[in-house]
Amino acid sequence: MSEAAGGRERGILRERLAAFAAAERVRYARARPRAAALAAGGAGYYAGVPMHWMLDWPLPFPMVVADARGASLTDVDGHELADFCLGDTGSMFGHSPEPVLRALAAQSGHGFAYMLPTEHSVAVGRLLVERFGLPHWQIATTASDANRFALRIARGVTNRPKILVMNGCYHGAVDETYVELHSGQARSRPALIGQFTDLAAETRVVEFNDVGALEAALAARDVACVITEPVLTNCCMVLPAPGYHAALRRATRATGTLLLIDETHTISTGPGGYTRAHGLEPDLFVVGKPIAGGVPASAWGFSEEVAVGWDRLRREKPPGHSGLGTTLSANALAMATMHATLAEVMTPAAYAHMEALAVRLAAGLAGVIDGRGLPWHVARVGARVEFICAPGPLRNGSEAAAAHAPALEQAIHVGLLNRGCLIAPFHNMMLLCPATRSEQVDQLVGAFGEVAAALAG
Ligand SMILES: Cc1ncc(COP(=O)(O)O)c(C=O)c1O
Repeated sequence: MSEAAGGRERGILRERLAAFAAAERVRYARARPRAAALAAGGAGYYAGVPMHWMLDWPLPFPMVVADARGASLTDVDGHELADFCLGDTGSMFGHSPEPVLRALAAQSGHGFAYMLPTEHSVAVGRLLVERFGLPHWQIATTASDANRFALRIARGVTNRPKILVMNGCYHGAVDETYVELHSGQARSRPALIGQFTDLAAETRVVEFNDVGALEAALAARDVACVITEPVLTNCCMVLPAPGYHAALRRATRATGTLLLIDETHTISTGPGGYTRAHGLEPDLFVVGKPIAGGVPASAWGFSEEVAVGWDRLRREKPPGHSGLGTTLSANALAMATMHATLAEVMTPAAYAHMEALAVRLAAGLAGVIDGRGLPWHVARVGARVEFICAPGPLRNGSEAAAAHAPALEQAIHVGLLNRGCLIAPFHNMMLLCPATRSEQVDQLVGAFGEVAAALAG
């Protein structure tokens, strides 16, 4: 999609982009002497950060956080930012929501991890059933874990070896999902470290929105489970074509294949996720990241049919070492905070606020793009908004990969940060939380307008 002619890419002169990117990086670095000193001091322990992904921000050195509350974040150099990254969804309901703070305070002094249930567990189970519709639930610590366990159960109860993923998907650190299409063939993702077996032997991959390819890939009836996000949010955002989810459900049912909907990001849609808002009928369901208000926890639900199959497996197999579960999962803190989040934070009123601001943001960004005549577009699923520096809408993972413009996106990212707005470092994702104020949205639209003006000239 890059336009070689005229030295432009995505409507922007390459020279102008390079100059803008360099100037913004200098501006960032000059404004953050304390973070620079900390980064230098920490290099010996951690390569500068406690977790390698923290180096993926397109910054000369990481920003160091001093405080975060609601939709604002302050760094150690004293800059207050409007936070639209919100921990890449971990804090999608804002930093330190009051009910979660109260739940943490109430639990503190009563122990954190017993490997036994608390009364919160009962309440959480009931809320999960009411909220998402599936009758059975388990708790895990991360969405990666929940997906891994759900896929293991899917394979166990169907006694089928394979799974199917959508090209361009991401479901966390789940080995079998690291498969992509390369020139039409499935292959293990080349970035995956320490992988010796060919993951493509067990995983089929098709393009999202391609019903024919899906039906062909399921025809042999050896796929245990299709795992997908209802909207692809981990490449540039890809929305389902009208009728796609109905076709996906038909094709999976017709071949005895289970359907796992991963709502870890699309929980931005509403209190019951995309699933409830659009009447999807998954056999397995995963939600992680913000479900305990930023405290590590996830949940996975499953149908009666899957529960019956799991019971059968329990009877047939020796006890212990099932490959499901980790010691700290469903600990007392996680259950207390998940209870508070489900009952008091993920309310229809909170979602109505988030959605209204997301509509305002999407319209503002689209207005800037149209006003400058840029060949870009904006996509949205509930409170999750993305600007994509290519024409849209995108139909699948391959188109999303081609739409990605790393150098341009990174320059915009630093430009927005220097103007007081933090967005997610992976593509151009922005989230609205219950604490986000309309002035913060207008600040982001204004900053985006300034950056677009500087880039487009
Ligand atoms: C759709 C989806 N599922 C699962 C995960 C994994 O979440 P975690 O890293 O918290 O395990 C992610 C992470 O981005 C995700 O986007």
